[in-house]
Amino acid sequence: MTKNSGIIVTLKAAATLDGKIATATGCSKWITGEAARQKGHELRNENDAILVGINTVLTDDPELTVRGIQEGSSPVRIVLDSKARIPEQSRVFKQDGVPVVIVTGSHAPLRIWPELADLTILTAPTRTPDILWVLSEISKLGLKSLLVEGGSLIHASFIKSNTVDQLVLFLAPKVIGGQKALSWCGNLGVDSVDDAPQMEISSVTALGEDWMISAIIK
Ligand SMILES: NC(=O)c1ccc[n+]([C@@H]2O[C@H](COP(=O)([O-])OP(=O)(O)OC[C@H]3O[C@@H](n4cnc5c(N)ncnc54)[C@H](OP(=O)(O)O)[C@@H]3O)[C@@H](O)[C@H]2O)c1
Repeated sequence: MTKNSGIIVTLKAAATLDGKIATATGCSKWITGEAARQKGHELRNENDAILVGINTVLTDDPELTVRGIQEGSSPVRIVLDSKARIPEQSRVFKQDGVPVVIVTGSHAPLRIWPELADLTILTAPTRTPDILWVLSEISKLGLKSLLVEGGSLIHASFIKSNTVDQLVLFLAPKVIGGQKALSWCGNLGVDSVDDAPQMEISSVTALGEDWMISAIIK
């Protein structure tokens, strides 16, 4: 059973024990060890698409490909980028035949896009793409499963929109600390603990020195 447009949404993050996904300067490599990172590639391989926010592309310049899996295939790469800021040389535009979808907002400036055979630009009817709208549009592309890979603001938007079917949190035995380092989930506007979204943990698995917690949101 899925919550949205027939797409199963899995939210994945690699965090320290205090829930941080990056330092205050934006450094996130590497929070977890080899085994957890390999599991992350397996998750990518199991999904039709991976989605990240523009800040993650600007900070990390991820390839968003599947690596280390024989005959693994890379999922469609999706970036939410309201203002069409994504640099042309970003690794997601790598010429490897994997489709790329950039979702911009209604007020994005006109720009010249990279010449990529399989590049789709979706323009949302709102300044910032709404998550339900995004899921509805990408389901029209035939996508049935989506791995949401950050960052903090994107995770918060997905949780707020109540579209997450499964949470996979990799926890490393490290502490980054501080008020400025991002947690895996941004502001949800929760004032009372009673109002916090409730999760139900379905499994806890050791992966090398890290832990993988799988949960569903009640
Ligand atoms: N450890 C991990 O698992 C992991 C994974 C990924 C990222 N990270 C880290 O996370 C940090 C980036 O996270 P972040 O929270 O700053 O940014 P982010 O979530 O990567 O991107 C947020 C940006 O996406 C755009 N956006 C478009 N539609 C949106 C929507 N519906 N909801 C929310 N944002 C939307 C907005 O920019 P516009 O208004 O310009 O569109 C927004 O500022 C980096 O330091 C990166 O290293 C860590």
